[in-house]
Order: sequence, then structure tokens, then C-alpha cells
Amino acid sequence: MTRAVLAEHVSEARLWSRLSDLAAIGATPKGGVCRLALTPEDGAARVTLAGWAKARGFSVSEDAIGNLYVRREGTDPSLAPVMTGSHLDTQPTGGRFDGVYGVLAGFEVLEALDDAGVQTRRAVEVVGWMNEEGARFQPGCMGSGVFAGAMPLAEMLAVADKQGATVGEAIAALPKIGPTRDFGFPVHAYVEAHIEQGPRLEAAGDTIGIVTGIQGARWFAVEITGSEAHAGTTPRAQRKDALMAALDGIQALRALMTDPDDQVRFTVGRMEVFPGSPNTVPGKVFYTIDFRHPDAATVQRLGDLVVPTLEAAAGPCAISVRETFTGPPVAFDPLVVDQVAAATKALGYAHHALPSGANHDAKFMARRCPTGMIFIPCLGGVSHNEAESATPADCVAGARVLAETLLALAQS
Ligand code: GLV
Ligand code: MN
Ligand code: MN
Repeated sequence: MTRAVLAEHVSEARLWSRLSDLAAIGATPKGGVCRLALTPEDGAARVTLAGWAKARGFSVSEDAIGNLYVRREGTDPSLAPVMTGSHLDTQPTGGRFDGVYGVLAGFEVLEALDDAGVQTRRAVEVVGWMNEEGARFQPGCMGSGVFAGAMPLAEMLAVADKQGATVGEAIAALPKIGPTRDFGFPVHAYVEAHIEQGPRLEAAGDTIGIVTGIQGARWFAVEITGSEAHAGTTPRAQRKDALMAALDGIQALRALMTDPDDQVRFTVGRMEVFPGSPNTVPGKVFYTIDFRHPDAATVQRLGDLVVPTLEAAAGPCAISVRETFTGPPVAFDPLVVDQVAAATKALGYAHHALPSGANHDAKFMARRCPTGMIFIPCLGGVSHNEAESATPADCVAGARVLAETLLALAQS
């Protein structure tokens, strides 16, 4: 079978309709999606995908951290499979494409292979990684991190959300959709399709991004302990105001992280102030830091300055800082990057090579096997926002490049 013949079987209408079906699960009034990891909505999305897979005769399995696998068998089941996928969970005010697009583009490839009557040598598997977003449970990329051996299973199962529910409890509450499988089976190659989540492809007028790697990231959880006191009577010298200490620390980090060429990404995305009363000086503050940079040495240097900078700014309060995620920059394997480039050129899409600013499960899979990614544009580069938008034409273009890439890898 020639490349173009398989690409013709990748259906824009079917992919778009499946994207719409899953966007309805956890749909928000503003047109986005809230489908936090391991919630009933996430469970419903998993059941829906598994139902489509079983109806097609693909096999479905799960593992102990809640990753979901859909497998189309190859002619030699003893060979390591080629894998694709992404995640079904979203941010609290998430969009209709982040994550789910990569899972459904992969599923579309399985259906196209079936429709075209193609038998691949290696099995092709689509995976829905558990908790990529890290919105409900930290860190993110938990499913791929455990799969790749970078995060201990028992530790991750014990991670609790804000209400105290653990990952393990939430997995046990999900509908069971397939047999349980071990981690760590060999994978020949991993390719993930995703919206770019940034403005570069759109600005260049290009359809496909050939992703060269992912920038480094470090996450921190900060807890500051002061002392509750009366807001109306307590003089400044007697206060141990945890919020003021937090603000001084964040301000100091902001100065440190503001670089002239705007490469550093520094975000405080969550803060909780206790006891949360207008007339009580805050006795405790909890907040998170998400810091990223493309250069490994800078990720190390600036990341290592977080603790001393915050300690110096804590004043009379006590501070504890825990690093919850460490992901150095990753360069993807030429085996996959070149294959993505070849497929893109063969299909005639306008393209350019670019690194990823966002984290992806591909970062952890790169530790296990040759890995690469395919980006498509999203409107205005907007993501982690209910307004996130991508066109049917771009969605199918990415799926066609994915199909040709997976086919070549599965026959090798
Ligand atoms: C994933 O959404 C990330 O980049 O944090
Ligand atoms: Mn994503
Ligand atoms: Mn995301």
C-alpha cells in the first residue's frame, strides 16, 4: 500500500465527530471542557473510547496507574508495538483538543488501517495516559512517568487531591474496562499528536509542526507558616503574616525569572490562604510554582535558586518547599523526527520544526524508546482555556501525518 492510500482512509468527518462526542463529556457553559483526572467524567470518556474500540474488534487493557490501551494486533505479536496517544483529562477550564486530540487521532489511524485492510508487522497501540495535566493530582504526566519508570507507582497511588482523595482510591472507583496489564513492556517507538498550544504555526501559516523536543520544567509546592492574629489590633512588628511572606517570595522569584529574551516561563497557578477570613492575619499559605526553560543548565541553575530565594524572603515565617516535578529538557530521536518530516513532506503540508513549550507524556516516553511529536495549529495559540480551538482540516492533517508515520514505524 502506498502512503497516499492510507491517508485517504483517515476521515476528517469521523475524527471531528469523535472529538465532538468527547467534548460533550465534562462540557462547560463557555464551550470548553472540565474533565479532571479520574473523575466520573474522565471515567465516562474512558468507557466511551473503550466502547468504540471493542466495537471495532480492538483489544482494550489498563494498568495499575490507570493508563488505558487500545491495541490493533500486528502480524507478528512477539514484536514490540508502535505506540501513539496522549491524555483524556483536562484542565479545570480546559479546551476541546488538549490531549484528547492525540488520543482520537491515534484511534482514527487504527480505524483507517482497518478500513484500508492494512496488516502491520508490529501492533499499533493507542494509549490514554492517566493525569497528564497535573491539575487535580500533582505531578502531571503521572501515567507516563510511572510507565517509564521515572515515578514510583506506590508513591503516585498515595498522592491526594485537595479533598484528600488519593489516586489509588480514584482509580479503584473508575469503571473497569479491560484486563490489567504490566508496566514496562518494550515499545518500538512512540509518536504523539497534539495541538501546538502556542502561536508559532499559525503565525507562519503552517499546518504541521515537526517537534524536535520539549523544554525543561520544574514544579514546586510551597507552604508558609506564620501565625493567625487579629487584623485590627496586631502591630506590624508582632505579625507573622504568611501571605505577605508569600508575596515577598514570589516578587523576588519574579525578578529572578524575568529574562530579557523572554525564554523563562514562571507561573504561580494555585494559592490557598488560611484561615481565609478578612479580619484574621493569614497563618498559613500554600502555593505552587511552575518554572520552565529550554536550556538544561538554566533549568538547573534557576531551579536551584528557588529554595534559597524563598527562604531569604520568608521574614518571621517558616517555609517548606517541596519539588514535585523535575523534567529536564528532552531532544526527540531522529528515527521518529525524520519519519514525521518524511510523512509531512510526502503529504505536501506546509511545515516547520519547533520545540514544545508545553509538557507532554512524550517527555517520559523518550526515556523508554525513540519518541517524537506532531503539532497542529490552534487558534491564536490559546490553550488551557475554554476558547481553545482547532479546525477540522488541521486535525485531519495531523492525523494523516500520524498515520503515515505509524505505518512506516510499524512495518520496520
Ligand atoms: C501540560 O499541560 C503542561 O504543559 O503542563
Ligand atoms: Mn496536553
Ligand atoms: Mn494541558
